[in-house]
Amino acid sequence: MNFTGSHILSIQQFQRADIERVFEVADSMAPYALRRKVTRVLEGAILGNMFFEPSTRTRISFGCAFNLLGGEVRETTGFESSALAKGESLHDTARVLSGFSDVICMRHPDSGSVAEFAEASRVPVINGGDGANEHPSQALLDLYTIRKELGSKGRGIDGLRIAMIGDLKYGRTVHSLCKLLCLFENIQVTLVSPPELAMPEPIVEEMRAVGHSVSITEDLPQSISRVDIAYSTRIQEERFASQEEADIYRGRFRLNQAIYTQYCEPNTVIMHPLPRDSRANANELDNDLNQNPNLAIFRQTDNGVLVRMALFSLVLDVVDQVHKEARDVNWYNSLRTL
Ligand code: NCD
Repeated sequence: MNFTGSHILSIQQFQRADIERVFEVADSMAPYALRRKVTRVLEGAILGNMFFEPSTRTRISFGCAFNLLGGEVRETTGFESSALAKGESLHDTARVLSGFSDVICMRHPDSGSVAEFAEASRVPVINGGDGANEHPSQALLDLYTIRKELGSKGRGIDGLRIAMIGDLKYGRTVHSLCKLLCLFENIQVTLVSPPELAMPEPIVEEMRAVGHSVSITEDLPQSISRVDIAYSTRIQEERFASQEEADIYRGRFRLNQAIYTQYCEPNTVIMHPLPRDSRANANELDNDLNQNPNLAIFRQTDNGVLVRMALFSLVLDVVDQVHKEARDVNWYNSLRTL
């Protein structure tokens, strides 16, 4: 894929070599993300960060990634504070905002909306989540995390055993992650959900078509007993007709330290795109896992900055200039812990 000037809308756009390129560039961003070095390569550039659905880590980490490359960030959050609430089309909003920005990140509740917006945009658009459809940057940071976690144990992504747990119907992160895993070899995927919240059939078919082993179950203990990664997800309550309907499924698959100790292999890595729903009736990943060294959820969020810096550098074609523009920081936050 030619990254320069491209929209990043779906994992479907990527080949395996593209993923390797993103990861290689992400690795090189560590000194800036850790604020040991400064680069001003994107000085003068503006990111339009447009989030029409709740977001904490995706919005802020895209913003931080752009700031760390020297650019400025402008944000719109929520329909009610934008002209979309006055009946403006995505087309017109895209024409206007792309005049103010060099790249746009967008999240929107409707599947396909970010692609529609991108068609009218004059600058590259990165999909920060479009309804239940896709969340490509999350899948990239998830796989980057998997690669790092397994790499430290001498393993690669090929041959991975992963359980995906929870709302697999509406969870866009697992949709993108499954598509991404189709670029790798010999993956064993166990899909754990209530039947009503099952992974969409076309995605299951796509995985089977490339030769992956896919099993479907409602049995959490059995599904997590022989995997490298247990990837939990939140019930996507905002996509249900009512909270009462979401309540039926909340808390169905809870993972805590006792269950982990009883059923998981010792080094099973626990992941979650976050936010984890920590309310008592959900509590899909218990706080008693916080001391478990295999809980990778906050390494995922840290890795998100590296991967998003890589995407900006590739799309804006400045990868080779990032380090030329670099210098050591004048001030280092020695109180910061990793
Ligand atoms: C996810 C999302 O928005 O799809 N969050 C995120 O971006 N890390 C998952 C979720 O909200 O449950």
